[in-house]
Amino acid sequence: MDSRITARALAVALGGWRTREPAYEALADGIRLLCLDNRLAARTALPAERELAAALRLSRTTVAAAYRSLRDSGHIESLRGSGSVTLPRPQRDAGRVTVAEDAIDLQQASPAAWPGLAGLMTEAAMDAATLVARAGYDLRGSLALREAIASRYTSLGVPTSPDDVLVTTGAQSAIHLLAETLLRRGDRALIETPTYPHAAEALRAAGARLVGIPVTTDDGWDLDRATQAFARTSPRLAYLMPRFQNPTGRCMTAVDEKVFGDAARQAGTTLIVDETTSELAIDGGGRMPAFADAPAHVVRVGSLGKTVWGGLRVGWIRASPELIQHLIAMRPARDLGTPEFEQAVAVRAIAQLPGILRQRADLLREGRDAVSAALAVQLPQWRVPQVNGGVALWVELDAPLSSGLVLAARENGVSLSAGSRFAVDSALDRRLRVPFTAPVDDLRRAVDVLAAVWPSVRVGAPTPSGELLEAVV
Ligand SMILES: Cc1ncc(COP(=O)(O)O)c(C=O)c1O
Repeated sequence: MDSRITARALAVALGGWRTREPAYEALADGIRLLCLDNRLAARTALPAERELAAALRLSRTTVAAAYRSLRDSGHIESLRGSGSVTLPRPQRDAGRVTVAEDAIDLQQASPAAWPGLAGLMTEAAMDAATLVARAGYDLRGSLALREAIASRYTSLGVPTSPDDVLVTTGAQSAIHLLAETLLRRGDRALIETPTYPHAAEALRAAGARLVGIPVTTDDGWDLDRATQAFARTSPRLAYLMPRFQNPTGRCMTAVDEKVFGDAARQAGTTLIVDETTSELAIDGGGRMPAFADAPAHVVRVGSLGKTVWGGLRVGWIRASPELIQHLIAMRPARDLGTPEFEQAVAVRAIAQLPGILRQRADLLREGRDAVSAALAVQLPQWRVPQVNGGVALWVELDAPLSSGLVLAARENGVSLSAGSRFAVDSALDRRLRVPFTAPVDDLRRAVDVLAAVWPSVRVGAPTPSGELLEAVV
């Protein structure tokens, strides 16, 4: 059955859409971007013009003009009597938005597989007879992998037993399982803004009302806002990325950790610490895992997705044995375990992690330095923060036009995600996430495209009064 989006939900998803003049084109671009990011699936019925106009406090003529523009670009079709629905991609691509053959995808901040991985897979395959000797399903994960994960935590200063570990199909699956297990509809959940968008989606899908805690590359976490939010909303859980936060690349200081740890304990909040990017230090100086004294209210989520390969689909949850039991009981509705072969490969990869991390640091350093240098030369008016690790630069544009820029870059074969994609409750359209995980040549070409399209996007920048209007709407 086709789905439908309400005017209110569309207004929330659009965030700070009013980034250029005329308003109807800015609104159409906002909707195009939602289609591009798959946040508006194909065949979704859009709200009636009158309802969307009321939700956005616009005239109906403006919404009608935006819908007309979307029809012209092949993004929607409108049928008399049954409203407007979004169209699947091929029809869109036949319209205004086209994808070049040598397109560069920077929507995913995902490094290529670690070069030794194929060798580990071959080794694991040689042991296939042992692997298939076990009968039935294993919801918890193989003992060998849980031991490997536990002993790595222990060696990093977080004493862990295999009973504290549940193996999942990637960190995403872990976050989703935790959300479904811990949250009830209407619960508050604290989350950084900007954040990793699929974590926000998982929490929302489990019924959470999200409370955003701002974080920036320069200033880190807004501790005042965080303390107040814990005290005021008594959230059921808080989802954090304390090391090389995606997308800002920022790491928590010891003070940040103490403030979050204390506030969470007082509010009875479970802290979900996502460590997917934690070990991606570029310039050395790795610190202990965040919240290393591991109080009972800290649950860790880890993954080999960025360190080894996103296609491996092995992640885990480290929690108390009681919570692990509870998660195992909740798991069958979603899946019945993690593939055995991938787990066998993961055991071998973890044994080689120190070397793998050195290779990752080299690859990420090359990417970061290439993007930073190219941006400094070609777009000196943008502010490019310095980061010591992670997967991306959280760049500050000289105008809040990230959505328009992403659409223009897409037409020229470069896919990126606009700042608003990472926002929880604010616009962040002055920001662009530029991953540095891709090959250096692709990264340089992507910056060439950004520099080429920016002047024409910039022409549509809102006037100062336009920005003022945005702040009060
Ligand atoms: C912070 C963070 N957590 C989780 C994930 C998903 O990881 P996995 O591939 O293990 O599901 C990502 C992937 O981009 C991520 O950036």
